[in-house]
Amino acid sequence: MRFDVLTIFPTFFDGFLAHGIVRRARERRQVDVAVHDLRDWTYDRHRIVDDRPYGGEDGMVLKPEPIFRAVEALTHHQPNPSIVLLTPQGRRFDQAAAYRLSQSSQVVLICGRYEGVDERVAQYLATEELSIGDYVLSGGEPAAMVVMDAVIRLRPDVLGSPTSAQHESFQTGRLDYPVYTRPARYRGHAVPAELLTGNHAEVELWRRRAALRKTLCHRPDLLADPTRLDDTDRRLLT
Ligand code: ADE
Repeated sequence: MRFDVLTIFPTFFDGFLAHGIVRRARERRQVDVAVHDLRDWTYDRHRIVDDRPYGGEDGMVLKPEPIFRAVEALTHHQPNPSIVLLTPQGRRFDQAAAYRLSQSSQVVLICGRYEGVDERVAQYLATEELSIGDYVLSGGEPAAMVVMDAVIRLRPDVLGSPTSAQHESFQTGRLDYPVYTRPARYRGHAVPAELLTGNHAEVELWRRRAALRKTLCHRPDLLADPTRLDDTDRRLLT
């Protein structure tokens, strides 16, 4: 799979590409990531990518021409590229969207900037507009890294074990159970006794209850659909 990132701050991505799973996946040729400077698709002497908004207002808007040219140049031999515009106005990015994008052979990520991006990019060029959450970043670059990270780790063979991604939060519809490591007592705080028994069934039951409680407390919205709770869950919650 290939990612093409369009940004006016290409060096923003240096650290991201140089570490961890993303670095390893690139070294093993499991993914290809190319970061492009949007200014390379301007034709004027000052390499201008923005302009004032029609109708007045503060701030500048990214012009459509460099973005259309860049995306067309980068996708012209791909049958079905995913062209993603990152803005706070997008549909919310979630694990399901990450799975969907992980099936794509090419994903172009357009990083928004300034006060916005000419709406014709969202309407006539992008295949989708995504937001990573209900807060406003100063640009789409951190959002592009979030999307790439979440997608890359879902690709076959990128994580150590093939089942690693399957048991995670949002795949299972609830938050992960809490984990502990040594020491068994730290500053007077003990690791739950059930985890020290060596009894697999008891450990599993504790984990399930703890995950449910955490989900109920932090993310009750995830449990709002009662069909996602079975009889054991209901018993554990009472
Ligand atoms: N650009 C600015 N804020 C953003 C957000 N929340 N998600 C995606 N792109 C953004």
